[in-house]
Amino acid sequence: MLDRFQRSIHDLRISVTDRCNYRCVYCRAGEAPNGHHAAELSWDELARAASNFVALGIRKIRLTGGEPLLRAGLVDFVAQLAAMGVEDLAVTTNGHLLADLAAPLRRAGLRRVTISLDSVHAEKFARITRVAAGFPRVVESIERAQAAGLAPVKINVVLLRGFNDDEVEAFAAFARERGVVVRFIEFMPLEEGRVWSREMVVPYDEIVARIEKIHPLVEVPGAPSETALRFRFRDGAPGEIGIIAPVTRPFCGHCSRVRLTADGKIRTCLFSLREWDLAQLLRQGAEDAAIQAFILRAVLHKEERHHIGEPGFQRPSRTMVHIGG
Ligand code: GTP
Ligand code: 5AD
Ligand code: SF4
Repeated sequence: MLDRFQRSIHDLRISVTDRCNYRCVYCRAGEAPNGHHAAELSWDELARAASNFVALGIRKIRLTGGEPLLRAGLVDFVAQLAAMGVEDLAVTTNGHLLADLAAPLRRAGLRRVTISLDSVHAEKFARITRVAAGFPRVVESIERAQAAGLAPVKINVVLLRGFNDDEVEAFAAFARERGVVVRFIEFMPLEEGRVWSREMVVPYDEIVARIEKIHPLVEVPGAPSETALRFRFRDGAPGEIGIIAPVTRPFCGHCSRVRLTADGKIRTCLFSLREWDLAQLLRQGAEDAAIQAFILRAVLHKEERHHIGEPGFQRPSRTMVHIGG
């Protein structure tokens, strides 16, 4: 599929639920429950949607949430997607429930996993996620994912000024010691709590400079549509550093992604103001041809780029916990 800016759209991110058991400060509002939950598409409806995306050239599918492992039946869904011949199948999770699911997911055909971990200190982890006993569970999940052969294991770190920006060096050490890919992410205005400001963003340049001081880096060439700029350690240590810099180095010009929300809406950008109601079409008993025509039309309307930090920037119609990252 090509959009009107000649970008090839071959990645699909499916949010399987907007429920989440964490309340990360960069994502969720304080104590208020996240209230309304979308009526989730059934697994059959999700599979039907996915097979039509695959027929249109989607090669990579990432399952997200909320927290995808909260939804019973995920392992079987992964098996269904693997049977469709999806080349690259991944999950993004907070890791809280992954330890026991890593091996079953791998057996079902999952290739790799991305785990959120925003601090290497248990106490600060609790402050950021607002969950008391999560840290040791997530660390165990990382180990079990590696043992299950999910590779590479990627760790997402959303850096927030004043919360965890002092941990860049510690995370670089974590990558080296554990042989994982640590990806630092610039904070984007997608949170429920409306706390985002440009001052809270820890920029790409600072992250690279600080790691370079201790561990010189070598750039690793990546696929053009990749979100992360990648580095390995010059001394040959295991592990890798990625930096995802949507704010200071936007990558919209090479975006290959389209998203499906848990309630069956197609979103052509994280920052979309408009959604395409695929659920309705599925429930009307539409034929595959009609579903594919609808997907193609949505893709043709994919936004050129985001407008973070520009005057007149409008927050998208949903926050990250509903979109899935
Ligand atoms: P790979 O499949 O391993 O390349 O990972 P990924 O970067 O596609 O997946 P992941 O879910 O780990 O995404 C990491 C983070 O990058 C997300 O949580 C978002 O913060 C950010 N991100 C991913 N896709 C986009 C995008 O299309 N636009 C913007 N602005 N940010 C994105
Ligand atoms: N800005 C950037 N990344 C975010 N994530 C969640 N909220 C934000 C935000 N406001 C990322 C987390 C998580 C993934 C699902 O989305 O890293 O791993
Ligand atoms: Fe944290 Fe992800 Fe849940 Fe948001 S959706 S609170 S980032 S685990």
